[in-house]
Amino acid sequence: MRMLTFALTKGRLAEKTLDLFEKAGISCTQMRDKQTRRLIFVNEELRMSFFLAKGPDVPTYVEYGAADIGIVGKDTILEEGRRLYEVMDLKFGACRMCVCGPESARELLDSKQLIRVATKYPHIAKDYFYNRRHQTVDIIKLNGSIELAPIVGLSEVIVDIVETGNTLRENGLKVLEEVCPLSARMVVNQVSMKMEDERIRSLITQLRKMI
Ligand code: PRP
Repeated sequence: MRMLTFALTKGRLAEKTLDLFEKAGISCTQMRDKQTRRLIFVNEELRMSFFLAKGPDVPTYVEYGAADIGIVGKDTILEEGRRLYEVMDLKFGACRMCVCGPESARELLDSKQLIRVATKYPHIAKDYFYNRRHQTVDIIKLNGSIELAPIVGLSEVIVDIVETGNTLRENGLKVLEEVCPLSARMVVNQVSMKMEDERIRSLITQLRKMI
């Protein structure tokens, strides 16, 4: 049997992915070892191998077939726009992509003025403002702590992930509009989906029972 390779997202999603896999009887316990510098883990019995990658790299590994399957956030799938199949909503990591800012920015947003939008997700922001709101905006790409942008005057609003809303509250910002709901998804390489159809289908059935 051919080895089925999984690319998992490092960080917040990793732990929950391993929890789900273990519940479904897919053991990759060595991956929980935070000390290890090992990059790839093999479960010989199941003919599966697993590696951790940065979120935005997961769809890349899957599109090129270096991984058959990826577990990654919907935000990253939308932002990266890779050719792959999204086959399952794993439900964990649930949050929302939102347009946020100070209450005073609502007026600017509604009057369709040329505003600046700071975000880690320029494609999602562009799609939302251009295609859904039909509004021309200046998009400024940042790499983290996006909430700083409207506070220090870099932008009027941000497009960012809201989970508990604590970061916004602690910084005097609000959700002004919702772009879309997000959660962890399973993605599959397009060729693997055909070649390993049966195995992947039974994996989905197995995982679905645990969600
Ligand atoms: C994310 C996101 C928000 C925060 C939302 O940032 O960009 O800042 O979490 O969570 P909350 O609604 O529960 O407060 P993350 O911690 O991933 O770090 P980053 O700022 O470096 O992107």
